[in-house]
Amino acid sequence: MPFFALIPAAGAGSRLGGETPKQYLPLAGRPMIHHALQLLCGSPRIARVCVVLSPGDTEWERHDWSAFSSRLAVLECGGATRAESVLNGLRAARQAFAINDDDWILVHDAARPCLAAAQLDRLLDELADDAVGGLLAVPVADTLKRGGSGGRVAHTESREDLWQAQTPQMFRYARLVEALCRAGGTAMTDDAGAIEALGLHPRLVPGDPFNLKVTYPQDLALAELILAGRRATWRKNSG
Ligand code: CTP
Ligand code: MG
Repeated sequence: MPFFALIPAAGAGSRLGGETPKQYLPLAGRPMIHHALQLLCGSPRIARVCVVLSPGDTEWERHDWSAFSSRLAVLECGGATRAESVLNGLRAARQAFAINDDDWILVHDAARPCLAAAQLDRLLDELADDAVGGLLAVPVADTLKRGGSGGRVAHTESREDLWQAQTPQMFRYARLVEALCRAGGTAMTDDAGAIEALGLHPRLVPGDPFNLKVTYPQDLALAELILAGRRATWRKNSG
């Protein structure tokens, strides 16, 4: 079954602040979204990559994306929420490419620039024959406190069986469209949530914490360090 990737990149980055949406902020010498595009467009296992922009996007055209042009479709159909952007993108992608109902779609946040090729391969290997699909995720490591009144702890929550969801999240085209249509209007912040609402159980594929989502300003510095460390290792290994 072919794999297609879809990158929602129509958000405003309000928690990070600033004028420029975070997916375009400079990171390791490139706009942030460049890193996700490089990995997904560079994978020989992914047939095509679609990026979903806000219809009012004025940043995309300021950068050079020609390195990806043979694999990439740019869809200017982002919506008011992530779920809406993904759903609009899936519909537009089917007009751009011949996608079958059972083809796999990998949805990956533009704001996760540190996804490693080995993680992507692991996800594809573990889920290619799965009936439902699934996602990269990391077991919760910290002790969890439920906040109560006056900024004090109400109680400690068990972290047993708790995972932090990452992306890519990978589901079959028609089922993901159905799930997102049904979830319309609810506050679903990932694709797996919409699939779960159908009564299905996505598989958790252990990922690594380096695949962080840049949400707050301090995450930018962390992502910069992760990418610099990876570049240094690559240089060392290549002589
Ligand atoms: N996204 C999108 N369309 C939206 C909202 C979000 O395509 N209407 C995308 C973002 O561009 C990002 C991914 O979904 O790549 C994850 O969302 P998030 O980290 O929440 O990004 P923003 O919504 O941009 O940030 P914030 O919630 O802080 O405003
Ligand atoms: Mg958001």
